Formats: sequence, C-alpha cells, structure tokens
Amino acid sequence: MNNRFSLTTAIAYVNGSPHMGHALEFIEADAIARYNRMIGKDVYFLTGTDEHGSKIVQTAEKEGIPVKELVDKNAQKFKDLMSQYRISYDQFIRTSDQKKHWPAVQKLWKKMAEKGDIYQGEYKGLYCVGCEEFKVEKDLVNGQCPNHLHRKMEVLEQKNYFFKLSKYSKQIAEILKTAEVKIVPAFRANEIIAMCESGLEDVSFSRPKEQLSWGIPVPGDDSQVMYVWCDALTNYISALDYENEGDLFKKFWPVDCHVIGKDILRFHAGVWIGMLLSAGIELPKSELVHGWIHYQGGRMSKSAGNAVDPVGLANHYGVDASRYYLLAEIPVGQDGDFSYELFENKINADLANNLGNFVNRVLSMVERYTGGLVPAKKMETPSGVDDLWQDYHQSFAEYDHQRASLAMIRLVDFGNKYIAEKMPWEMAKDEQKKDELDGVLRMMLKILLHVVFMFHPFCPDKALQIANCFGLKEIDFDKLKKLQENKLLDEIKKISKPEKLLFERVEDDRSLVDNDKKSVHLPKIPLPVSPEAQKLELPIVAFTMTDLKPIGTGVQKRLKKEWEKWVGELKNLRTGGRKNVEEIIEKAYLLNESLGVSRDETPGNALLQQFLADLNKEFPFINPLVAFYNFIEAQSGLSIGAHDISLLKGDVQLKICDGSEEYWPLGADKAKKVTAGTYAYADNEGDRVLCWLDVKQSRDSAVSNKTTDVLFILQGYEGVSLEYVQKAADELKELVEKWMG
Ligand code: MSP
Repeated sequence: MNNRFSLTTAIAYVNGSPHMGHALEFIEADAIARYNRMIGKDVYFLTGTDEHGSKIVQTAEKEGIPVKELVDKNAQKFKDLMSQYRISYDQFIRTSDQKKHWPAVQKLWKKMAEKGDIYQGEYKGLYCVGCEEFKVEKDLVNGQCPNHLHRKMEVLEQKNYFFKLSKYSKQIAEILKTAEVKIVPAFRANEIIAMCESGLEDVSFSRPKEQLSWGIPVPGDDSQVMYVWCDALTNYISALDYENEGDLFKKFWPVDCHVIGKDILRFHAGVWIGMLLSAGIELPKSELVHGWIHYQGGRMSKSAGNAVDPVGLANHYGVDASRYYLLAEIPVGQDGDFSYELFENKINADLANNLGNFVNRVLSMVERYTGGLVPAKKMETPSGVDDLWQDYHQSFAEYDHQRASLAMIRLVDFGNKYIAEKMPWEMAKDEQKKDELDGVLRMMLKILLHVVFMFHPFCPDKALQIANCFGLKEIDFDKLKKLQENKLLDEIKKISKPEKLLFERVEDDRSLVDNDKKSVHLPKIPLPVSPEAQKLELPIVAFTMTDLKPIGTGVQKRLKKEWEKWVGELKNLRTGGRKNVEEIIEKAYLLNESLGVSRDETPGNALLQQFLADLNKEFPFINPLVAFYNFIEAQSGLSIGAHDISLLKGDVQLKICDGSEEYWPLGADKAKKVTAGTYAYADNEGDRVLCWLDVKQSRDSAVSNKTTDVLFILQGYEGVSLEYVQKAADELKELVEKWMG
C-alpha cells in the first residue's frame, strides 16, 4: 500500500481576517488529514497565506499601514484560527518568505522560460483587483466583473511577460477528461474542459515593478515582478523544497489532494497544470473543490456583510460543534447553507441527543453495574459494524466526509438500538443473567470505541475526551488496528465517567456569537440583504445600543465642556474630512452607476453638504448622537446611519428599490418617491425607506432628544474591508458609550 498522503489547502489572501469560507476549507482538509493519519498513512498537510498582489497593497494603503505590517498581522489571524480549530497542519508557508518561497518560484519560472513558454509582450486590458485577474469581454456582466460588481475595473496597459498556456490547452483537457488529475466532484471539471477545448489564452505573468513593487522579482529582469497567481500556486512545491528537490519534495510531491474553493478551480486545473507541464514536474493526483457557504440567502462573504465570524462561533458553541456542523451539514463539493437554526438543530440532534445519549448511557451503566470495570465476557462484533466501517472508509476515499458522518451516526443509532433491545437494566435485576449482562455491557463499550475512532476526524477534542474515559491517551493507527483486531478492549481494565456532560444542548443564544471575541458587549446584529442587493457586496456592520441616557438629560451640557478639544479635532479633520465626504458621495454615485442608475437620478447629498458647511462653522449640534456618527463618518469615509429602534417596524434590510417606496426626508412636509434601481435601507414594511444613501436619515426613524435605543448601520464602499468598518463601529460605540452610556 502506498503509505504516504499529502494534501494542501489554498493559501488565503491576507487582506482581512479569516471567515467561515476559509474555516470550511481548513476543516475539510484537516478531517482528511486526520483520517489518513488514523489509518496509518504518513501524512503531510500544507497550508499558508498568499501575501502579494494589488489587493494586499491597496488594503494596506487604505488602513494606512506598511504592507509588511498588514500581512504579518493578518497571517497571524489565520494561524490563530487554525490553532483554535485544531487544524493539524505540518507546515504554514507564507509567500513573503524570501528564503523558502522565492527561490523556488524563480526556479520554476526559469524552467518555464527554458522551455520557451515565457515570452515578452504588451498587454492592455481590464484588470479586476478582486480576482487578481485580467478579464476579457465575455467574462463581464454589464462591463463589470460578475464576482465584484461594485469594484471598478482597472485598465492596465503594460509591457510584461506572458506564459504560453494556450500551448497546453488540449493536453490539459485530456488530463482532466481521463482524470489523470481527478477533480472531485467530477462535474466541476466540465466547465474547465470546455474552456480548454475552446482554447485557453496565454496568461500575463508579470507586472512592471513601478506599478506594483510588492512581489517576487522576475529572474533576470528587475523591472518586473511576478503575477500573484504564478507566485501563489508555486507555494505547493516551494514549501516542499522544490528549490533543492530535497527530501520533502521527493517524498510528498505530487500531492494527493489540493483542497480548494470552486472560484479558483480554473487556476488550479488550468494555469497550475500548465505550469507543471511546462516545467516537466509531476501533476497533483486530485483536487477537491468545495462550494460556498450561504447565509441569509447569499454567499457568505465579508464584503456582503453577512459573514459569520468563525472565531466567535467556536467561542460560543465550541470548536468541535462548529467543526461538526461544517463537515456533516455542508454537502461536499456543493454550496451549503449556514443558519443558526440549522446549526443548533444539527448539533442538538446528532451530538447532544444521539451521540451524547449513547456515550452517557454506556458509561453510566458500566459504572452502575460493574463499578466501571470492563467485563471479561466476550461476544462477536455484529457484522453491521464492519459494513459501516466499509462505508466510512469508502466515503473518506472519495473525500465525502458528509457521508462518512452519516456512517458514524448510523453506528451510534445501532448502539442505541442495541441497548434498547437488550435492556441491560432488566438483566441487572436478575442474578441469573449476570453473564449475559456482562457480555452486553462489554459490547456496548466496544461499539462506543468504534464510534470514538469514527468521530475523531470530525471532533478531535471530544473524541479524545471519550477515549480518555477508556484510559486512552491518543487516537492513532496503532489503537485502531487493535480495535479492528478485537484486541483493544483487552488492554483496558476500567473506565471512568467524564466529570461533566460531553455534549450539551445548545440554546438559542446566538447574539453572543460575534461578540465573544471582540468584547463588544452590545449585540452586533445581522442585517438582512435582499438577493439583488447582495450583488453590491457592501461591507456592513450593524449594531444596536439600548438604554442610553436620553439626550435631554444634561449630556449636551457636559459635552460642551469638551467642546474645545472636539473643535480642535474637527478642525484637523476639515481638510481630510472634506475629502472623505466628497469621496463618500463619489462612491455612492459609482455604486449607483453599477446598478444602472445615472448620476442625475441618484439622491442628492444635501445632508452631507450641510455637514461640510457645519464643520466650517461650529460644532454640528443637530444633536450629540448625530454629531458622534458624523464625526466618525468624516474620519473614516464611511456612510453611517442611526435609527431610533422604537420607531422601527421590525427588521431593517438593505434592498434595491423598485421605485414605489416612499421616503420622508428630514424636515420635509411630504413624502417623496425614491428612484427605482437605487439601494436603500428599509424596515419591514418594505416600502418605508429609512435611509436613502447620502440623503441619509428619513424622519420615520430619526433619532431625537428622547431616543434611548439606537440601531447604527455603518457601510463601506468599494475596496473597504469589513474589518475597517468594524473598527469605525467600535470607535463610534466607544464615543456614544462615553457620553450617553
Ligand atoms: N489566494 C487565493 C488562493 C491561492 S491558492 C494558490 C485565494 N484566496 S482567498 O482568501 O480568496 O480564498 C482562499 C480559499 O477560501 C479559496 O479556496 C476560496 O475558494 C475559499 N473561499 C473564500 N470564500 C468562500 C466562501 N464564502 N465559502 C467557501 N469557501 C470560500 O483565492
């Protein structure tokens, strides 16, 4: 048997914090790694971060920090997430690693050049920074990248190097068709095969250094840096010491599996295979392609504002529960839904009820009837257990961990049914049945041990806790072998019960999820975004503050004392502030244009203009609460709204207006219709618009001197990270808390 197994995850961009999509990928890869270790393979598991390219540079500029600082900070967040989620990787490679990564990338480049596959040319095209990819006409929807509708495409004209990918089109099509590189699920290969058959285009593989200096220099031409995908894909071999073709490379290349998301399959099945063919390097054996996690009806992403923080989720519900949900509920290779309801139902049904009950019953009964001693009376393991193992192994061989989880749950069902049928509590009443009872108890322990091993790739901590009750210190191949040879239980004399329940029911307490980590003690709330509006991919943070001191109660007086300091800060902001406000307005226009609404039809910017004027005169005393958010807004260049919760009718949502919606501008004496096609925040009545872009606050939910409960919505525009919006939200919260909390 081939005893090595190597696998990789994609290396994530470090322009922000990790989200659930990343967590899904890491956990899927980790379950495969753990399974393979458990069945005795010599596993190598590689992961890391992708740290070059325009996206990273632009984010650093926006955050006003050096690029190196940004990548170090965010790479650490990925490492922290992996450690929290028990991702058992062997190496974490960073593409900014000049010692390990760069020489290998340059070596690969030279190989491709020697082969005559790198040539110099000129290129003019539309570049999407979101995808880090040039786009051609047929990729676009209304002139925009379909993945990043709100981002402006950059027109890039440059002299650079190209990779002759076109040359390999036919060969790649064949490789995918014959599954020489196996794509799982198979249907995902079809699109790439079709692309290959119609001929792949050559890829622009470098950029002039003067446009982008943060990258790996092209060998022999210091004026150019490599295209970020050329650099990133090579991590898979640079980490394995391709530079020296050392032991790791010899042993673990080609990898058995690249675990990736569906959006980057074309790079892995197209460009990467082409690069390896060109350089004469063996091809990876397979690529497991997972889908998206959906939440609130759309793809979960930070920019859509519907991302659930994986750190908060695990802090609140537990790491193993979070892992279990992602592995057992999201179908392999398909898109899957996240919702707190689905999450809680799945955890309660499978872990708390089914598995939790089984563990508890087995351990309690053994303790009650034998004082914890493992009875000696042996019986043959029912054949059903073997069948389930076969299904389990087959599932993992096909990377189908969801099906593997079902095999495990069926084994738990089997165990529960066994107990129900044998009724050990009845046997215990009859001295004559002592022997039979011993046999049943031992069988229960044995089934539980089988469950523990099957459970390990899903929930390593909980599985180990149960194993500890048997006195086992680890779950490994050696023990699994003994279990399968029916010898493991012979080595165990006594079992103990865990001190507290291993699996508790989870309750509907989700408001805490996103707050655990950030110590925002006020609930940050999810803001529903209509399907059309999701295309805007706006980074949004919504949060509420309740029980504030009403503004009338002396706050204004106290605030005046700080007036001088404030004026100073506001004056400093004036120049920057003006620029920011104008930027907000410009971005609102651009956003509307991407929705097909012309500038003339977009709402005016009266309030912001007013604010500008106020800045030039006096402290803008609309009321202090409004002043606070205007202050933050001027600082951060975001659009911020505040609503009196008592005036809202249900949830607020972000929607695209059809033109029938009405809007009551502040101070106006009659409602106005909003322009069809623009986006707005509306409450549950749907046609009652509360905040319409830069017209801002409508009178329907306006904060007043009596307001005590407020909903804040902070919204960023193109290229602003959710983290940045969150930072502004934290600042706003701090200010409001200081003065009105
Ligand atoms: N840096 C590139 C990958 C280079 S690999 C040589 C990249 N980074 S990423 O951060 O955008 O994505 C990293 C991985 O996470 C990809 O496999 C991507 O498909 C996956 N996901 C990103 N968002 C996702 C969801 N919402 N859901 C599931 N996975 C998603 O692409």
